[in-house]
Amino acid sequence: MRGWVDADRAPFAALNVDPEVMEHFPSTLSRVESDHLVDLIQGGLVTRGWGLWAIELLATATFIGFVGLNAVPFEAEFTPAVEVGWRLGRAHWGHGYAPEAASAALDYGFGALHLDRIVSFTSLSNFRSQAVMRKVGMTRIGEFDNPGVAEGHPLRRHLLYAMDRPQHR
Ligand SMILES: CC(C)(COP(=O)(O)OP(=O)(O)OC[C@H]1O[C@@H](n2cnc3c(N)ncnc32)[C@H](O)[C@@H]1OP(=O)(O)O)[C@@H](O)C(=O)NCCC(=O)NCCS
Repeated sequence: MRGWVDADRAPFAALNVDPEVMEHFPSTLSRVESDHLVDLIQGGLVTRGWGLWAIELLATATFIGFVGLNAVPFEAEFTPAVEVGWRLGRAHWGHGYAPEAASAALDYGFGALHLDRIVSFTSLSNFRSQAVMRKVGMTRIGEFDNPGVAEGHPLRRHLLYAMDRPQHR
């Protein structure tokens, strides 16, 4: 898990334009939108010192996507809150990389950042993401309509998971 470098932009754009990776988002991202997202993520990492880290395979130094922490960018019953999130290229699914990195992000959030609670959410249909939430020890606490998704859109209804800071931290 590391900061982003310019060489990450092309492989990140490639995964953001992949309909399979973006199946549970309202749309894929153009190169311009993808680069804008990198700018936002990089800016957050620089100003706060934490955020959505770039994920690189140790063995090959290949960039495969992001996993990390993010301030929830909308208002809801459970905000303000910090979420843990993930997006990896299709070729790298099923190896446990997202749970491995998400566990490290949770550790950082509860340890270094002293957060009391970290949330995660995804559309009802995103079973892979829900599996990651359960694998890292998060608990399903409810459902909500994501205001970032248009009313009436089938992806608007979301499941909300959360994890509270372990007692020993
Ligand atoms: C979600 C994502 C990050 C998972 O990353 P990963 O590193 O492949 O995670 P895992 O290796 O733990 O594999 C996913 C798990 O989901 C399970 N899974 C896959 N399809 C499933 C389904 N239809 N129902 C239930 N579980 C499913 C897999 O079996 C696997 O669990 P297992 O190892 O116990 O078998 C990755 O699929 C991804 O980037 N998806 C696209 C972006 C995205 O949706 N991000 C989340 C937005 S909220």
